[in-house]
Amino acid sequence: MLTGKESSGQLRAMLHAVPIVPVLVVHEAAHAVPLAQALVSGGLPVVEVTLRTPAAIDVIKQMSSVAGCVVGVGTLVSDGDVSAAIDAGARFGVSPGTTETLVTSCARLGLPLLGGVATVSEMMRLNEHGFDVAKFFPAEASGGAPALKAFAGPMPDFHFCPTGGLNPKNVEDYLKLPNVLCAGGSWIVPPEHLKSENWSAIEKLAAQASKLSC
Ligand code: 3PG
Repeated sequence: MLTGKESSGQLRAMLHAVPIVPVLVVHEAAHAVPLAQALVSGGLPVVEVTLRTPAAIDVIKQMSSVAGCVVGVGTLVSDGDVSAAIDAGARFGVSPGTTETLVTSCARLGLPLLGGVATVSEMMRLNEHGFDVAKFFPAEASGGAPALKAFAGPMPDFHFCPTGGLNPKNVEDYLKLPNVLCAGGSWIVPPEHLKSENWSAIEKLAAQASKLSC
């Protein structure tokens, strides 16, 4: 049984070295290995593979086989996919919101959970389980960097990975906040680059993002 405190501790250890976690929607399992190689070479080895395509579990499995790539499973909206993702190699889970069922299932199966929150009440509920790290989603639509700055008052020990609506223009507003651990975003892997298998362009975008300081 993984406690909330242990879960958040493991996430801090995985996320502290990267400013950005690329959020991936991968349709072709054949793209998994070259994509992982491009991201690792570009300096962004921690990735979130969303469960939004039929290939996602296979993609997790194949990306996990690439040396240095730390793969998380994203878009966990129920506990049904947790054990398949773990079997495929997922090292952490990411959810847009957080439910008791998901928290319990991840704890039982030992998967660190980066649970989604957008309000202080949701943070307080996660904190009651011992968590002190969460995904702030959808970040821009939920008040953006000013909201995160305000959360630091009542929740001083909580740290966030803001995701949703971030881009190269606004990401530094988030990364400079002391309660931000890293940020998540899909701009590192634009669908057109994935479709055209433009791995060098993806590596370049990752390299630019990896230089951001957090
Ligand atoms: C998501 O779950 O879709 C992520 O938060 C990515 O959001 P983005 O596409 O706005 O970066």
